[in-house]
Order: sequence, then structure tokens, then C-alpha cells
Amino acid sequence: MLFLPVVLLLAPGLSAAAPAQHQKLPRFATLVNRQTLNATYDFIIAGGGIAGLTVADRLTEDPNVRVLVVEAGPIDPGLEGILVPGSFAPYYYFWPNLVTVPQAGLNNRTIGTVAGQVLGGGSAINAMVYVRGDSVDYDAWGSMQGNSSWSWQSMLPYFLKSESFTAPNTAYAQEANITWNPAFRGTSGPLKYTYPPYYYPGAANWWDAAQSVGLPPVEDPLSGSKTGIFPIPSVMDAATMTRNYAKINHYDRVREARPNYHVISSTMVAKVLFDPRCKKATGVNILPTAGGSVSSVFVSKEVILAAGGLNTPKILQLSGIGPKKLLNKFGIRVVSNLPGVGQNLQDQPTLTVPYTFTSNISPNSGSFFTNATYNAEQRALYETSRKGAFTIISSLSTNIGALSLKQATPDWEAIIAAARANDAADSLPSDVDPTVLAGYRVQRETILQQFADENVSVGNLHWGTSDNALVYHLRPLSRGSVNIQSTDPLVNPAIDYRTGTDPVDFTVYTALFRKNRELFAAPSMQVLGPAEGAPFADAVTDADIHEVMRDKIDPSNAHQCCTAAMLPKRLGGVVSSEQKVYGVSGLRVADISFWPMQTGGSPTGTMYAVGERLADLIKAEHNLA
Ligand SMILES: Cc1cc2nc3c(=O)[nH]c(=O)nc-3n(C[C@H](O)[C@H](O)[C@H](O)COP(=O)(O)OP(=O)(O)OC[C@H]3O[C@@H](n4cnc5c(N)ncnc54)[C@H](O)[C@@H]3O)c2cc1C
Ligand SMILES: *[C@@H]1O[C@H](CO)[C@@H](O)[C@H](O)[C@H]1NC(C)=O
Ligand SMILES: *[C@@H]1O[C@H](CO)[C@@H](O)[C@H](O)[C@H]1NC(C)=O
Ligand SMILES: *[C@@H]1O[C@H](CO)[C@@H](O)[C@H](O)[C@H]1NC(C)=O
Ligand SMILES: *[C@@H]1O[C@H](CO)[C@@H](O)[C@H](O)[C@H]1NC(C)=O
Ligand SMILES: *[C@@H]1O[C@H](CO)[C@@H](O)[C@H](O)[C@H]1NC(C)=O
Ligand SMILES: *[C@@H]1O[C@H](CO)[C@@H](O)[C@H](O)[C@H]1NC(C)=O
Repeated sequence: MLFLPVVLLLAPGLSAAAPAQHQKLPRFATLVNRQTLNATYDFIIAGGGIAGLTVADRLTEDPNVRVLVVEAGPIDPGLEGILVPGSFAPYYYFWPNLVTVPQAGLNNRTIGTVAGQVLGGGSAINAMVYVRGDSVDYDAWGSMQGNSSWSWQSMLPYFLKSESFTAPNTAYAQEANITWNPAFRGTSGPLKYTYPPYYYPGAANWWDAAQSVGLPPVEDPLSGSKTGIFPIPSVMDAATMTRNYAKINHYDRVREARPNYHVISSTMVAKVLFDPRCKKATGVNILPTAGGSVSSVFVSKEVILAAGGLNTPKILQLSGIGPKKLLNKFGIRVVSNLPGVGQNLQDQPTLTVPYTFTSNISPNSGSFFTNATYNAEQRALYETSRKGAFTIISSLSTNIGALSLKQATPDWEAIIAAARANDAADSLPSDVDPTVLAGYRVQRETILQQFADENVSVGNLHWGTSDNALVYHLRPLSRGSVNIQSTDPLVNPAIDYRTGTDPVDFTVYTALFRKNRELFAAPSMQVLGPAEGAPFADAVTDADIHEVMRDKIDPSNAHQCCTAAMLPKRLGGVVSSEQKVYGVSGLRVADISFWPMQTGGSPTGTMYAVGERLADLIKAEHNLA
């Protein structure tokens, strides 16, 4: 049997059956249910994902502050597929029945899409890839908002505070080309990360090929600048080589000391309640995720939304905060008419390019599945010494490329010029609200400037060392929406990524795709005898490639963001620089919805850091310890 950390499910004396009337102040952070939760808290947090648990942990450092986290999903009992990287598939805790509307830019395909529904949110089920955005991303948040307190320089202390990096041993780091600058690595924060102590030999072929097509090794991908190639930092605990996620690092870690930190699981926030006179948030309505009756819990200070990029706009709209026209359609009383709520949806589309090989090197990430002897051998190695292929998220490899547009294509200037010649209005639906369009114009110009910057990544290339290459598009110009389609809080919203509705996105994506081809054509990949699979192999012209893309792009990498954007109200913004929702009081957005735009990284690192930052802001405002 595999050794795994023992996960305590219930604090002593607080099972569902515990008689509420005899409870003393519990010793541990408390899992409550509808019978045992208090009527009033200082703060209620809707969603126990990365942002929600980070903020809850920090606010409850003050023993006088009472916090309730309401989480729609269950609590993982320590499933192997969650904790052991090599056992990543099959997947658990996906939000049920998430599906897009027909995607106009993608041959009207209706596409299943993913988000976490479990305590820990996306961090419980994600691929553990830990890559910050580029410095210009956070600077752009500040400049679009007209508030320089948002910048890379002001984020860096929070990145460092949030994390604890365990360095690989020196000899292995040298062999595997793992380099870093200690100035960018926190060593005493709650989130633990490291590098797998193993790579498939094909990873070296890919590394060499990438260098030969002009992608240089990056000293530290967490430095705010990372165009080139690097080994992937992974969010796991080096002591156990198991996933380190928000439930572990911001709940389990502190639970013994925090009777003031309550969590109710398998429970949905249906909507936020307001005092109709002053529009202050007074509490939330909750109901079981499985269905059932609605009850209310109240707050003395604030409600904090942390339900993720798809669900926070849904809660806002159901609470009367959103585009007036949409709210009217469902008979919802308007509390704050904010046309931007649920608009500006962005993700980082993915493209899986199949390959076969005449002489691929074994072992590779495929042998892990096809060679039972290898799998058993690696399993034994993991159990005895925490080494080998089980330390790598299954089907992935250990390195990646982050490309600037210049690195992807010599045509970069022409692409920018062509994009500038297009009217931004053509990229959005014809009935778009003028403030949302104004915000998009600013975002679009910002992105086009980023396209010209050699230090800004626009895409990722990855080869899992087996039968797929992955091409990621990081900075789309297309914008989608999330809108309620029912007043029932258990019904998912209509999700429209609108991927590829801005034609420039296909042009950029095609440049990335062609760069991947160039990499596979380099000598150190050619020795493996790769052949691109159908339907890509026959795609020669840009038009051919676009046609295949319309059929194959996955609009989401589960990085849905930006649907309650931090922008001025005149730019379609939903929250202020302090992440306060416009037009009401006592309500903030903590999760990825508040980002105005995607970053050049993966969301995890940024979400932990912005959670830390928001907690500080709230503590200062309420004079908390
Ligand atoms: C399969 C998968 C793979 C990914 N891979 C990576 C990766 O390798 N690297 C990376 O950086 N990022 C990755 N991501 C993305 C990353 O995990 C998310 O962007 C990140 O977790 C967002 O953090 P958040 O705090 O905004 O929301 P989340 O972590 O998504 O948390 C939101 C929480 O709110 C809960 N919730 C929603 N609605 C309600 C409601 N009405 N009431 C109560 N609770 C509610 C949800 O159940 C969830 O637990 C991946 C995501 C997924 C799903
Ligand atoms: C909160 O609930 C617990 C029982 O769950 C009870 O012991 C405690 O007194 C309550 N506190 C307040 C402030 O209501
Ligand atoms: C997609 O659907 C729309 C609306 O039904 C239609 O006008 C369009 O032709 C369809 N596109 C494709 C490629 O089928
Ligand atoms: C490490 O870098 C060296 C020098 O570029 C290269 O030859 C080798 O293949 C690389 N190995 C890996 C695992 O990336
Ligand atoms: C399967 O794995 C074993 C153990 O690593 C190895 O000896 C063997 O060559 C592998 N078989 C194939 C067909 O690759
Ligand atoms: C990119 O980064 C390098 C190294 O930090 C720096 O010298 C260069 O000026 C940067 N380029 C831009 C456009 O900022
Ligand atoms: C800028 O943002 C910070 C929070 O990041 C906030 O405290 C400050 O009040 C804001 N300044 C202005 C002028 O809005």
C-alpha cells in the first residue's frame, strides 16, 4: 500500500450527529453543517478554492474573527488520484454538466468544459503546473485600473509570502537543467512546490530541439520574464511527492489552532442578501448542492465571493448584480446594474497534436500506461523512495516552452499591424454594452503592445514524450460570456467562450502550431522518427490549419477568468482596486473572476498570491490582527 498523509475528515465531536446544544468551543477548525453553523459570522466566503481558503486562513489568524467558508463540493478523503501525481487520471470532482453553447468560431461545436467542485477547488484536481504570469501582466492590471498599487513589484512580496520552494539536489538539478534565482523563490509560505526528481529521456531530445529552433533556456520562469524553455515547477510537497493543494496548505495546516474557521461542504451559495436601503451585503442564502431547502447565514462585516470564473458571475447575477437587461429577463430585482458581470470571459485554449514515432525512446510517458512491468517498477520506486515516474503528472513531461510572438514567427509585426487595422467592435457581439466595449479596446491595445515584447509569452509548447504535443494559446483577443439561464441556483450558466471569434487568434495560434512543427523537424526530434497525425498532417496552408483548428481547439484549459473584472466602471469593470463590487458595500470578489485579463502563466501561483494580498487589504481595513 502506498503511504499517504492521513486526512482527518471531521474535527472531534463535530460530526453531523453531534448535539449542538452541548458543544463547547471546539478545539479545531470546524466542519459545520446546517444544524451546527452559527447564525452570523464576520465574513462569509462563497467557494473554498485557492482564493477562498487563502483568505479564510489569513483572516482567521485573528482569533476574534469568525469566518465561514461555503463550499459546493465535498471534502476529499485522500484519494490516490488526487494526491499521487502519476495517478492523476481518472479524474475526480469535476463540476457536473458543464458544457458550452455552440461555439460559433469552432464549427458550432458544443464542448464539455471543466472546473473543480471540491474543497480546494481547482488546486485539488489541476495538473500542478506552477508558472507565474509575466511582469507586464500585473503592471497592466494597474495601468488599466489607473492604480499603481497593482504591479509586478507589489505582487512579488505576495508570491514570496505564499510559497515554500524545496530545491532539488544540486547534481540532479544540473543534469535536468533546473535553474532558479533564489530572489524569486519563497521558502517559508504555506504552498509547497518543487520539481519531480525524474524525467523521461525524450525530454532531453525536446530540450535540444527547442534550443536549435531559437528557444533559449530560461534562468528562472518565476522571475516575471520567461520566454524560452524551462523545467516545470510542480505544486507538490517534496517530503512526500504528493499534491500540495489549498485544502492542505490553507485549511489542514491551521485547523488545529482555528476554532474560528468554519467550513460547510457540499453546500452552494445561492445568492447574496442585501439591506435594501443601504445595499450592504448582509449574508447569503445557501442550499445543499444535492438540492433541498434554502436557509440564510448572516455577516457582520463582508461577503467574499471566491467561486471561480464561471460561478462568481452566476452568484452576482442571481443576487441582482449584473447587466440590467439580463436580470430583467429573469425577473431579478436590480441591486447594481453592472453590464460587465459575466462578460469578458477568457481562457487559454489548448490544441492536442497527435504524433506517432518509428523510434521513440523508452521509457516515455506512454510506457507508463502500456508497459505494466515499467509501471510496477516505478510504483515500487515511488513507494520506497519517492522517485520515478509517479512524481510526474501522468501523460505530461517535465519541461515546457513559453514563446513570445517574435519567437513564434518572423511575421509578428505584420500580425500586430493587421490586428490594429481591425475594429475592436467587430470582435464583440453587436449588442455589447458601450462600457464593456470601451474596456475591451483598452485590453486589446495592451495585448497588442505585449505582442511586440520579447519578454512576453503568447503561447506554450509541450511534448509529453509520447503520442501528443500540446500547443497552448495564452493571450486570446476573443472574449466570451457567462450568463445565467435560470433563477435556479443549481442550474449551470450558459458558457460561451467565443473562442476564435477574433480572427487574429487563429493567426497567432497558427504561428505557434507552425513553431511546434519546426521543433519536431529539428534533428534531435527527427531521430525519434515523428509523424504528425491526422487531421493535422494534411494541413499545409494557413487556411487548412485554421480549418483543422476550428475542429480541434479546446476552448478551455480550465483557466476561466475575468468575468467580474477589476477595471473602472466606465470600462465595464465590476470591482475596484480593492476588489469591492461597484454599487454595493460589504461585497468583494477574491477569485480569478476579478482578473481583467489572462496572464502569460498558469493561474495557480497568481491565485495564491492575490489571496494573500486581499487578506492583507481586508485586515488593514477592519483593523484585524
Ligand atoms: C482540471 C484542471 C487542471 C488545471 N491545471 C492547472 C495547472 O496545471 N496549473 C495552473 O496554474 N492552473 C491549472 N488549473 C486552473 C486553476 O486550478 C484555477 O484557475 C484556480 O484553481 C482558480 O482559483 P480560484 O480560487 O479562482 O477558484 P477555484 O480554485 O476554482 O475555486 C472555486 C471554488 O468555489 C466553489 N464554488 C463554485 N460555486 C459555488 C457556489 N455557488 N457556492 C459555494 N461554492 C462554490 C467550487 O466548488 C470551487 O471549489 C486547472 C484547473 C482544472 C480544473
Ligand atoms: C457558534 O456555534 C457554536 C456551536 O456550533 C456555539 O458553541 C457558539 O456559541 C456559537 N457562537 C456564536 C457567537 O453564536
Ligand atoms: C453555426 O450556426 C449558425 C447559426 O445557426 C449558422 O449561421 C452557421 O452557418 C453555423 N456555422 C457552421 C460552420 O456550421
Ligand atoms: C540539458 O541541457 C543540455 C545542454 O543544452 C542538453 O544537452 C541536455 O539534453 C539537456 N537535458 C535535459 C533533460 O533537458
Ligand atoms: C518495459 O519495462 C521494463 C522495465 O523498465 C523494461 O525492461 C522493458 O524493456 C520494457 N518493455 C518495452 C517493450 O519497452
Ligand atoms: C527583456 O528582458 C531582458 C533581460 O531582462 C532585457 O534586457 C530587455 O530589455 C527586455 N526587453 C524588453 C522589451 O523589455
Ligand atoms: C489603489 O488600490 C489600493 C488597493 O490595491 C487601494 O488601497 C487604494 O485606495 C487605491 N487607490 C486609489 C486611488 O483608488
